[in-house]
Amino acid sequence: MKMKQLLSVLLAFAILFSALTACGSTSDEPDSTAGTTSSTEATEEVVTVDRDNTYAYDEDAPSLYEAFSQWFKVGTAMNPSDLEEGTEEFEILVKQYNVFTLENGSKPDAMHPSEDVYNFDALDQLVEFANEYDKTVRGHTLIWHSQCPDWFFYDDEGNTVSAEVLIERLIEHVTTIVSHYKGEVDVWDVCNEVLGDSGGLRDSMWYQIIGDYDGDGDSYDYIEIAFVAAHEADPDARLIINDYSLESSESKAISMYMMVKSMLEQGIPIDGIGLQMHVDYTIDVDTVRSNIDILLKLRNIDPDFVIEVTELDMSCFTWDDTSTEVELTDEFVEQFDTKYTELFELFIELAEEGVLDSVVMWGYNDGMSWLNSYPVSGRTNYPLLIDRDYKLKSTYWSLIDLAASKS
Ligand code: XIL
Repeated sequence: MKMKQLLSVLLAFAILFSALTACGSTSDEPDSTAGTTSSTEATEEVVTVDRDNTYAYDEDAPSLYEAFSQWFKVGTAMNPSDLEEGTEEFEILVKQYNVFTLENGSKPDAMHPSEDVYNFDALDQLVEFANEYDKTVRGHTLIWHSQCPDWFFYDDEGNTVSAEVLIERLIEHVTTIVSHYKGEVDVWDVCNEVLGDSGGLRDSMWYQIIGDYDGDGDSYDYIEIAFVAAHEADPDARLIINDYSLESSESKAISMYMMVKSMLEQGIPIDGIGLQMHVDYTIDVDTVRSNIDILLKLRNIDPDFVIEVTELDMSCFTWDDTSTEVELTDEFVEQFDTKYTELFELFIELAEEGVLDSVVMWGYNDGMSWLNSYPVSGRTNYPLLIDRDYKLKSTYWSLIDLAASKS
């Protein structure tokens, strides 16, 4: 089937499924001594807080998202259990962030565990919260090789399905979910981690079974089909292709650039690239900038093309370190704070260039981070801005100071 025919099949599916599923920026002036100036929406009331003993939910704590609101939204991954009103977790989410994504609840295995079963409860709950508190929702993620149930790829006898069957399942999956959230989920990570560690298409079941279906010489047809289907289902949603190490591996950034360039030239509706940014404390921010510049060349094809930071955290272990404990010496903490500050300086720069409007952290406290169990289990990691007791870390204050100094 040629791409044109494929697109008309997609359109037909989209029509079928839509029928079936009718269903002030405030700036914070730094205090020259120990405290900080926190402002409320209405007043410029000055509150001095003890930086060593302030919790993220405290009334007089600053708000991270308000501090950066003139540049970009600040978000976090979270879980439905965090949405219980009156809890500290809930207070932190409302106060500190304005864009949210479910850490696991909107992945294929959670939302579409078997062919006839869709679980919308978790994301419905987040959408309801977002509507009430005027927050943005990122849907993560529609198509991924991981946390994706086997039923997509096998028939009842356990044989691998044909390309036609998998394309049909892919289109139904994307169309049903995106239609359900039309106008409610602002951004979708349509495809996640389609490239391998240093670039080149990942050898996933999606790739193996669908491959170069239209015979045009490239093998990312499943990605093209997913984006077209998502766009048909909600033309106003921002559609992102999300991946890791784009900020650190030049070869991976170039692979992503080449692939997305070719797709944009064919008219595939991709709005931007998501940089997960699971970095560590040795990250070189100049390299991050130059890799992002490679991706931003896509603006020569689509001047509105954007990047988003989608899963930021900073491990206290380098990738080849297998230890489980790290000593948080003053020097270490200083380097950690500096790297985070340099990254946020870069984000401000990119926002001022009009290419970045959203920075999402992969969690809102060290205790919940996936980096306590990945890639080494039983580890104690400290990759985020808020500690295990929900106290604001020095890194958090460095970022508040940065925002104040740039305002
Ligand atoms: C992680 C979650 O944080 C864990 O709870 C889960 O066990 C595995 O997935 N890249 C992604 C995220 O796109 O979905 C991953 O989230 C982290 C790496």
